[in-house]
Amino acid sequence: MTLLKIAQLGEPVLRQRSRDLTRAELAAPDTQRFIDDLIETMHDADGAGLAAPQVFRPVRLCAIHVRGNNPRYPYKPPIPLTVLVNPVITPLSDEQFDNEEGCLSVADLRGSVKRYVHVRVQAWDRHGAEIDVEAKGLTAGTYQHECDHLDGHVFVDRVTDPTTFSTWKNWERHRKAAFVERATALVQKWGG
Ligand code: NI
Repeated sequence: MTLLKIAQLGEPVLRQRSRDLTRAELAAPDTQRFIDDLIETMHDADGAGLAAPQVFRPVRLCAIHVRGNNPRYPYKPPIPLTVLVNPVITPLSDEQFDNEEGCLSVADLRGSVKRYVHVRVQAWDRHGAEIDVEAKGLTAGTYQHECDHLDGHVFVDRVTDPTTFSTWKNWERHRKAAFVERATALVQKWGG
């Protein structure tokens, strides 16, 4: 397997709408190898997720995996390794929450973003089987962040209060405690 280069903010590939994959393309050995590389790259960078356009391949495919010990996001509830192909996200309520996000394509920056608290996620898995799940709370936020990448959106676009922008070090110092408290309440209310 190969570690892939992660596109940083300013790369045009992050700003285009990625295209759908056909079932035949998904089944192709090249695509399956690419999915393995995408997952390995996500794990190597300690990401909670990684979308194909972030590694310079503008197709509608992303991987999500939150392990209990993720050093970037220790407060996130675990999400098993999930590959989404051609995903569609539908909010199931109007309720939103303030999610403090970072991104492997935006070095050393976090900011507060509104996300729907309860969504439906429909997609194929890496073998073309149907996925149809509901996600809540921080987990719903993770799905929305990754799927945004497939439409050319980066979390910084959605930061409505620029005073919430913070380096990771300063986030740890000044924002983490309050956010983890809010996130813990959200996890308890909505589950993972
Ligand atoms: Ni991202």
